[in-house]
Amino acid sequence: MTQYKGRLTFAKGTYVEFVVAPNQDVDFGDIVVVEGKNNDRFYVRTYDFKVKSRWSGLNGVNYLMSKLDENGQVVNQEELDFYLGGNHTVKVAMAEQLCYSDGDGHLFNPKTCPDFFCEVRSLSTDDTSLLKELKGDIEIGYLKTGRSVLDLPVGIYGSKAITEHIGIFGTTGSGKSNLVKVLASSVMDNGNYGLLIFDVHNEYCGDLAQHTKAEQSLRVYNPGSVSASAQKFYISPSEIEPQNIVSCANFTEPQLDALYKISSVWQDSWMEYMLKYETQDIIEELAGCTGQKFQSRTISKIKSICWNIEQELNLSDSEQSVLSNILAELEQGKVVIIELKNVSPVGEQVLSTLLSKKLLKHYANKPNRNDSRPILVILEEAHRFLGRKERVSENIFARLVSEARKFNLGLCVVDQQPRLLHDQVLSQLNTLFILGLASKADRNKLETMCRKDILQQRNEIKNLDCGEMIVATNYMRFAAPVKVHKFDDFLQRS
Ligand SMILES: Nc1ncnc2c1ncn2[C@@H]1O[C@H](COP(=O)(O)OP(=O)(O)O)[C@@H](O)[C@H]1O
Ligand SMILES: [Mg+2]
Repeated sequence: MTQYKGRLTFAKGTYVEFVVAPNQDVDFGDIVVVEGKNNDRFYVRTYDFKVKSRWSGLNGVNYLMSKLDENGQVVNQEELDFYLGGNHTVKVAMAEQLCYSDGDGHLFNPKTCPDFFCEVRSLSTDDTSLLKELKGDIEIGYLKTGRSVLDLPVGIYGSKAITEHIGIFGTTGSGKSNLVKVLASSVMDNGNYGLLIFDVHNEYCGDLAQHTKAEQSLRVYNPGSVSASAQKFYISPSEIEPQNIVSCANFTEPQLDALYKISSVWQDSWMEYMLKYETQDIIEELAGCTGQKFQSRTISKIKSICWNIEQELNLSDSEQSVLSNILAELEQGKVVIIELKNVSPVGEQVLSTLLSKKLLKHYANKPNRNDSRPILVILEEAHRFLGRKERVSENIFARLVSEARKFNLGLCVVDQQPRLLHDQVLSQLNTLFILGLASKADRNKLETMCRKDILQQRNEIKNLDCGEMIVATNYMRFAAPVKVHKFDDFLQRS
C-alpha cells in the first residue's frame, strides 16, 4: 500500500528536498519515490531533516520570544499555540537520488532532476523495476526503511554475484550464521547453484536438514563420525600434495625444502612413504636420490604432521575417496556441508585447501565453462586463511578470488574482523553483506575497500541491530538496507 509522503520543494543535481506531509513519518534512511511528470520515477533516500517555519527568521523568533517570561517559560500556552498553529511549520527532508526509472519502467542511474512540487510517496509493490533488481533469485530478507520493514523481498542474483565473490562481515552475534543458513536454504530452493560450506562449528546441518528439499539437495560430510545425517569424509593419501600442508604449519626453510624433495622423489606416494617408513630410512633414501642429507628433526616434524593428518582426515588407500562425489554433487546444484568442529586447525586447512584446489582444477579443465552451474565456497573466519600477513601468491583461496571468476566459481568469506583480511582479497569482493560491526577500524576498512559508495550510510551501518545489514553489490544501483529473514520463519514460510 502506498502512502502519500509530501511534495518536492527543491532539487539540485542528485540532491532533493521535500516537505513531509503533516501527520506522516519519514525517517533517516527511508527510501521514497518522487513521481515525475511523465510516468517517470525518482527513487531517493532521506539522510537528514530541517524544520522551518514562517517564524524561522530572526524577527519572527524575537517576536515569539517576547511572548515568554524572563526565564524563557511559556506564559500563555493558548496564545503561543495560536501563533504556531496552522501549517506554518514544515519539516523538510533532505535526500539523495539513488536511481531513476523512465516512463517504460527501465531503471537507470540518476539522469535528471524531478520538477518542483512533484508528489512524494512511499515505496510499494508498484515499483516493479526497482523491486525486480533488488529481489534477485536468492532471497535473503526484506527491505528495511527507517523504522519499518517493508514486505518487499531483497536478495542477490546468483549468476551475477557468486562469481564476483561475496563478503559477510559482522561482529559476533550480529547474525552471520543465520544469514548463511538463509542463503543456503534459498540456494536449495533455487537449485541452480552449488554451495560448499566449511562448517567450523557444526552449526548448519541440524537446521538445514529441516528444509523440505534437504533430502535431494543437502549433503553433509564429517571426517570424524558418521551419523544419520552426515556421511564419513575420507580421502586417499595420494590426493594430498605438499602445498596442502605448507600453509597450515610453521615450516622452517629446511623443512620446506625437505618437503618438496620428498614429493619430487616419491611423487603421489610421498604421504604413504612418510607414514610408513622410519625417519632414518627416509633420510638415507633422500640422500641417495638427491645427494642432500636432512637432519632427523626436520624429517620428524614433517612425519608428525602427516601422522596427525592421517588420524584426522581418515586417510585410507583401500577406499575410494569422497572428493569426486562432492564435486559431482556441487555441480548438480546441491548444498554440501563439511563439518570441521572436531578437526584441528591443521586438518581443517589441509581439507579446505585440498577440496578448493580440486574444485578449481576440475572447473578450470572443463571444455565448456558456460554449461556449469556457478558454485560458491563459503569460508568462515576467513582471516585465518587470508590474513594480511599471508603470502597471497601461494594461497589457494587467494587464487580462487583472483582467478575463479572465469571458471564460474566464487568465494564467500565470512569474518568478524574484515580489517584482518588481505587487501588484495577484500578488494575483489564485489558483494558485501555488512552486518553490525562494533569496531570503527573494521567499518573504516570496508568504507575504503567497498566499491559502492557506502559513506553516506555510515550512520546506518553504525546503528545496525542484530539481523540487519546493508547489501552492496556491483549490479545494484545503491546499497540497500535489509532485515535478514530469521531462518526458522523463512523455513516455515517456504
Ligand atoms: N535476521 C535475524 N532475525 C532475528 N534474529 C536473528 C537474526 N539473525 C540472527 N538472529 C539471532 O541472533 C543471534 C545471533 O545470531 P548468529 O547468526 O549466531 O550470529 P553470529 O553468527 O554473527 O555470531 C541468534 O540467536 C539468532 O537467532
Ligand atoms: Mg556464528
